[in-house]
This record gives sequence, C-alpha cells and structure tokens, in this order.
Amino acid sequence: MICSVLKINSDYLKEFNQEHLKIIMRVLTLDDFDLKGKTVFLRVDMNCPIDPDTLEISGTKRIEEAIVTIKALDQSKLVIASHQGRVGNNDYTGMDKHVKVLERMLNKKIKYVEDVIGQAAQNEIKNLKDGEILLLDNLRLCAEENYEFSPEDAANTIMVSRLSKLFDLCVLDSFPSAHRSHPSIVGFPHVMPACAGRIVEREVRNLDEIMTVAKAPHVIVLGGSKVPDRLEAIKMLIKNGRADHVLLTGLIANVFMRAQARIKYSLGIKKEEEVVAKAHALIGEYPDVFSTPVDVAIDKDGQRVEMDVRELQTGDKIYDLGPKTVEYYSKLIAGAGTVFISGPAGFFEKENFSFGTKALLNSVANSMATTLVSGGHLTTVLKEQGLEEKINHISTAGGALVLYLTGEKLPMIKALEDAATDTNLNKH
Ligand code: 3PG
Repeated sequence: MICSVLKINSDYLKEFNQEHLKIIMRVLTLDDFDLKGKTVFLRVDMNCPIDPDTLEISGTKRIEEAIVTIKALDQSKLVIASHQGRVGNNDYTGMDKHVKVLERMLNKKIKYVEDVIGQAAQNEIKNLKDGEILLLDNLRLCAEENYEFSPEDAANTIMVSRLSKLFDLCVLDSFPSAHRSHPSIVGFPHVMPACAGRIVEREVRNLDEIMTVAKAPHVIVLGGSKVPDRLEAIKMLIKNGRADHVLLTGLIANVFMRAQARIKYSLGIKKEEEVVAKAHALIGEYPDVFSTPVDVAIDKDGQRVEMDVRELQTGDKIYDLGPKTVEYYSKLIAGAGTVFISGPAGFFEKENFSFGTKALLNSVANSMATTLVSGGHLTTVLKEQGLEEKINHISTAGGALVLYLTGEKLPMIKALEDAATDTNLNKH
C-alpha cells in the first residue's frame, strides 16, 4: 500500500493548494499480492513516437520503463496491453513492432496476438503457462477504448465484461494515460482486484513529495502538439495557482501567436479556428501570464533561417525558437521556484532545429528551482544531453502529468483507490 506522507514546512504551508490534498493516495501495489501462478492483466503505456517515413518506433523509452513491472510479474501468466497512437493518425499502428523491442529488452520469447477481445485473444490468454508473456494488439482497435466512460459504464463494456473473467488481477502501470477514463484503465479495477505497477508507484510517490515543497513563482514551459488538451489544462493550472508564467513553445505557441494576430496565416491544423478562439479567450482572461516567441527559426529548403516574428510570411514553416526568445525564457526560468517543462520547443528531431529544445532543457537543469521534465521526447533529449541527474523528477507522461499538476484527481488513481477500499474485490 502506498500512503504518501506530507512534509510540513513553512513554504509548503504558504503555497500548498488545498485541492491537491485530494490526490494524496492510498492504493495497493504489487507487494500486496501473491503473484505466483496468477493470470494478470497489465495495462502499460507503450505509446511510442513513430517515424512518419519508416513507420518504425523512433523512441523506446516507454517500453524500457515497463520492464521493471514486467520482471516483477515473472512468475505469473502475464498479459500485456497498451494503446499506440490515435485512430486516424499516422502513429496508429499494431503492436507487432513493440513485441520485437520487448523481446530484445527482456531477452525472452513473447507471445503476440493480432487481437484484443476476440476468440483468438481469449484462447491465447487461457493457454498461458506460468512465466509466459502475451502481448495483445493495440487496445484502440477495440472501438470502446477510444471513448471516456464512468467506471460503472466502463465495467459494462464488451472489453471488460469479456476479458475480466479471464484474469485474477489487474495491474495499472500506464501513468502517461492516467488522465484517460478508458475501459482498460477504469473498467477492470471496478470489477476485479487491482493495484499499481512500479511506474505508477514511483510517479505518484515522487510527485506527491515534490508537490509538497513546490514554491512560487511557478513557471510552465509548454510545447508539444496536443493543443486542445493543453488549452484545457493551462486554464486549470492558472486557476489553481500552479502557473504564474506560461512560456509557450512549439505548435501551441503558434496557436497563441495567431490569436495575438502576430501570425496572420493559417497553420493548417485540425479545428484551428476553435483552438485559436480558446487561446484568444485565455490571453484576454490572463493577460500577464503568457509569453510567446519574439523570434523563431523557419525552414527554407531544409536550411534554418532565423526570423523576427514580425517578418513572418504566409506559409513560413516555424520549426524552432530563435535565440532572443530562448534568452528571455531562460531568464524567467532562472527566477522560478518551480519549473515544469513539457513538450519539445520545435522540430528537435532535425539537428538544425533542436537548438530551442536543448537550450531550454539546459536552462531548466541549471536553475535553482524544483524541476519537472515531462514527455517522452524531452526525456530522450535530456538523456542525450547528460542532464538527467540535474532534474528533480523526470516522467515520460505528458498530458497526465499536466493534469496531475492542476490538482485534479486522475481517473486511474481514483480507480485504484476505489479498488483498494472495495473489500469485496481485494480478498487476495
Ligand atoms: C500520451 O502519450 O500522452 C498517452 O499515451 C495518452 O495518449 P492519448 O493522448 O492519445 O490518449
């Protein structure tokens, strides 16, 4: 059982958001169960970046992270399940690529079935022997997994009603998707014994500790591509006293610059007018909170060209921050009490556009603040730069961590807490 202990000091008393109390959790862990010979459903998050040209996995950090929990279940009949990408996006693939990576990392044969809830998957689960591992196909092949449900309704989905009968225990370890109330996350714990895997255990223990000592000013450096999700979270972060300065980078910065009429052409993104209107409303409501770039780097025939934002021409592809913006953002980071950075600042995969991402991570690593780095992309760059030791908490989670910081209870944590207190479920 994890039971977080609050550290009391004067800073904490001043800054602590009462809402956050709700997130202090009591959940069961692997240590609370006899795992030998049990058939276990392990929900992980192996949602990896996929190279748009080769359609191969381009970063395996999340798979690597899952290994510790998989190893802890080596005496069970283990069924691993994950989503990959979103339906309609080019990162939406089968899990056949992931099985190869897992086999290499574990140095062990893993069974794989191109099915999630059908007869083929059910037969494979029933035939598993102690110590064997089966990987199911992409959970989002199952339509239900693409929608949010209450725990009660999730428990009644075909996925949960069919599969839960085949398992003794559900282990939730997909912290990067802890903000999603999908059937595989909130449905199984509603009807069967459930506990946190090692990643969830580590994340929540560290985060609870960090949040008790977090000091103002809170500086949020926000990039990445999931703009609608981010807009919702920004509002909650500001309202809950978790964002004194929001320094925008990447695609979300472009959306805000359009809202400020500093970019005057369409960005060509989904639901553009809707997100620009939301950004506009946020700037109106919180005029002193947001910073957007003053200079950027654009791509001209594969070359990096520095440009003042005022000189941008229709169709210019903004791929990175410029040096003046990085310098200004770095000053705000240096004066922060707590810094949270999520999402790359540009097209960092291309060497000549990685400057902003690397420079900001460097500023975060060298600040005196409490520091949190979030998301698979940034954690990869951090490792390459040898800066990991200088950061207080590193998480491959993106959106889930942003929501956690707002003080909102994450659906996965709530599901685990409920399962831990449901005595009917936990006769282990
Ligand atoms: C993530 O990468 O943030 C998680 O895997 C959740 O993915 P989603 O935003 O597509 O639900």
